[in-house]
Amino acid sequence: MAASPMKKRLSLSLLCSALFFASGWLQAAEVQVQGSLHTDQPGPQVSRYIFGQFAEHLGTGIYGGIWVGPDSKIPNTNGYRNDVLAALKAIHVPDVRWPGGCFADEYHWRDGIGPRDKRPTSVNTHWGGVEEPNSFGTHEFMNFTELLGTDAYVAGNVGDASPDEMAQWVEYMTAPTHSTLAMQRRANGRDKPWKVAFVGVGNELWGCGGNMRSEYAADVYRRYQTFVKAPADQTILKIAPGSNGDDYHWTEVMMREAGKFMNGLSLHYYTVPGGGFPPRDSSTDFDETAWIDTLQQALRMDDLITRHSAIMDKYDPQKKIALVVDEWGTWYASLPGSHPGFLQQQNTLRDALVASLTLDIFSDHADRVRMANIAQMVNVLQSMILTDGNKMLLTPTYHVFAMYLPYQDATHLPLEISAPTYRHGEFAVPAVHGSAVKAKDGHVYVALTNLDPEHAAEVNVKLSGKATQVSGQILTAPAMTSLNTFEHADAVKPVPFSGARIDGNDLKVKLPAKAIVMLKLQ
Ligand code: AHR
Repeated sequence: MAASPMKKRLSLSLLCSALFFASGWLQAAEVQVQGSLHTDQPGPQVSRYIFGQFAEHLGTGIYGGIWVGPDSKIPNTNGYRNDVLAALKAIHVPDVRWPGGCFADEYHWRDGIGPRDKRPTSVNTHWGGVEEPNSFGTHEFMNFTELLGTDAYVAGNVGDASPDEMAQWVEYMTAPTHSTLAMQRRANGRDKPWKVAFVGVGNELWGCGGNMRSEYAADVYRRYQTFVKAPADQTILKIAPGSNGDDYHWTEVMMREAGKFMNGLSLHYYTVPGGGFPPRDSSTDFDETAWIDTLQQALRMDDLITRHSAIMDKYDPQKKIALVVDEWGTWYASLPGSHPGFLQQQNTLRDALVASLTLDIFSDHADRVRMANIAQMVNVLQSMILTDGNKMLLTPTYHVFAMYLPYQDATHLPLEISAPTYRHGEFAVPAVHGSAVKAKDGHVYVALTNLDPEHAAEVNVKLSGKATQVSGQILTAPAMTSLNTFEHADAVKPVPFSGARIDGNDLKVKLPAKAIVMLKLQ
């Protein structure tokens, strides 16, 4: 695939800067942003898989969040919450990564098959030392993916299991034969083999997956992946365990030593304001310093992808291997009073902006980033959905995924934005960020995010092609900390946007402070 990375020129206009800092009344003025959109320069396809999800056996991510069991009073279909299923269907989840995370490298799949009341109880040693009932296992996950109409991304255990165990799991799930494992699957209620689209061969092998050095991990990966075999009528794409953030040496070694054995190489990067791990900042109670710190950390994704991609280009100039950002999102201190091992946090307008910026960055790197999985789908870290008993809410992040639906399998278009810098304290970010695609419905969509919490922006985008009408949606809220609660579940949600117009060859947008808009040009 030919690369056509979008170049964003972020320049500080002296005039804007002067206006910005000069005086009280001037501070309320709109910042001026210029852009150009090259609809005549279609780039690579923006894979729908960048909208992937991650569901780990962690806290209430699975139990209570997705799975309540068929006997629950919470309305369910064969044990899966109806409300969660419906919400996930609406955002066309392309794939779900399961069972971890760190949990994957200590998961033994045989614990999770057979009659549920006969399954062993194990200990989730990584996430709180709680009992793991194993009532959500292979059948429950694979049937869930079918019900949801999504692809399965199964993460195999390299940390404390053998290659044989991983190979047998794949055979159990996919074999069309009458092998003993296939017959065991049938005896457990599933005749037809399932389709397993992706297998992750280990998780964070540099950490919870075995504390390996990259040189050793590359060899271990080569060995394990050898035995991941798809039946003749299936293709399983193999994803190698990747780097922790900016560990470029890891990517270099994996590509050099194991590149020819993988379809994708993973990358994990979390947005952790307040100085990094361990996460200290609150998800709900924060000021402008934490706001801009978070957004600046989120924007680091662009540099990380650029640099990991450059290494991958050396070994794979044709870009056959995808960079798979299969863990990303915000990570704050756990909610007060919650189990510290459950990674429960709330989700505000700030998280919505982290999502829009990250999706812009992924689409700008569509030639290499062909899959990503936000951490995590329900009740854990930067979730789409929060549940509490029979209550459920959609987070601001969920709404961004919904607004970006036209990006799924769209064609990337280069959008250049020249925005002033928004500064606060030691932090500085472009005031406005954006991206654009031509969607499968034939229309051009432009996403714009105003990172400045105080100042509206007047955005003027020169269009290379013709458009006569623009319509759109906006996601914003009264405060940076605005969020949805079970009592007020619709406090932050997208509404129709009428602040954009076409003027000749220009798209003119009055973009409110701290807002995300998705515009459709016609
Ligand atoms: O998403 C939470 C954890 O973060 C995952 O289990 C692990 O892979 C990462 O460190």
